[in-house]
Amino acid sequence: MIKTILVTGGTGYIGSHTVLDLIKNGYRVVILDDFSNSSPKVLEQLEKLAGESISLYNVDLKDAKQVEAVFAAEEIDAVINFAGYKAVGESVEQPLKYYENNLIGLINLVKAMQEFAVKKLIFSSSATVYGQPEIMPLKESDPIGNVTNPYGRTKLIIEEILTDICAANEDFGVVTLRYFNPLGADESGEIGEDPNGIPNNLAPYITQVAIGKLEKLSVFGGDYPTEDGTCIRDYVHVADLAAGHTKALDYLFQDNQGYEIFNLGSGVGYSVYQIIDNFEKVVGRPIPYQVVGRRAGDIPVSYAAIDKAKAVLNWSPTKDIGIMCADTWRWQQKHPNGFQD
Ligand code: UFG
Repeated sequence: MIKTILVTGGTGYIGSHTVLDLIKNGYRVVILDDFSNSSPKVLEQLEKLAGESISLYNVDLKDAKQVEAVFAAEEIDAVINFAGYKAVGESVEQPLKYYENNLIGLINLVKAMQEFAVKKLIFSSSATVYGQPEIMPLKESDPIGNVTNPYGRTKLIIEEILTDICAANEDFGVVTLRYFNPLGADESGEIGEDPNGIPNNLAPYITQVAIGKLEKLSVFGGDYPTEDGTCIRDYVHVADLAAGHTKALDYLFQDNQGYEIFNLGSGVGYSVYQIIDNFEKVVGRPIPYQVVGRRAGDIPVSYAAIDKAKAVLNWSPTKDIGIMCADTWRWQQKHPNGFQD
């Protein structure tokens, strides 16, 4: 029997790549999205790439009645919850917006799951829950907390809520995936990251400089205690991340209950300068940049231990940093204005 997966936030950056991977692996997908940070164009592109139509409900997770109506209309076997606000800086300025959207959305979703006896959930968390750690690589069993912004705290609180739900409901199976830094795009170049306004994150900023939409990159801090003085992060291809969700679903469908956490990263750290170098190689010209002060809340180094996902989920990253940069650049060139082109 074909299984139906409800993907909230399925038209977002990681969500859209996961929808494709799920369909390729024989799952039926139903998307719930309110397009608050995405475009209906994503659905068109996904349908072209998948070669089939995909059901989508334009619903805000804060609207409990409408969420229930989706569960009433569809026979859902499992849920992947990507929907959530994610801009770190905005969360500092508007904390209530983040707590309201991310927490109430999750609570409404899990309540509907309980009402309709849907017992498998994958939740998108972030390496941000490790706070300001000093020992690398980061393991799932490392302490969490000491997070510097409300966005990160919504991830932390939801992880705790899900732990409690699993403790209270033995037949519930929840996988939390802690993403490191997603990069890249589908190799078709037809879907990718499309941030609103000026990008906050490194890769979209670099590609918008490369294509001439922005003048130069600001490198946030050149005096970190790293080899070249810039911050080190663990970049992982979004298609590999997507595959991690499909593997996590397979794991849940093998009748694994309870609460499990997996890091999804490449296990390797690259500095900001190394990322610039790799983009310069695929773009074929220099990326203008200047070093400015450190950004509040940035930690010097972050990279994952990924042994648990390898051993338990049989997942491994397959695409290296060169492919990540080439795929990001292809998407940027084909769609200089994101989903508006
Ligand atoms: N950076 C720059 N210039 C920029 C943007 C970023 O130098 O214009 C640097 C940052 O200082 C950092 C690195 O590039 O060293 C990566 O920054 P990103 O903003 O791309 O990513 P972060 O590691 O800060 O953030 C990511 C996710 C967040 C998550 C956080 C912690 O985007 O959602 O990891 O896990 F909270």
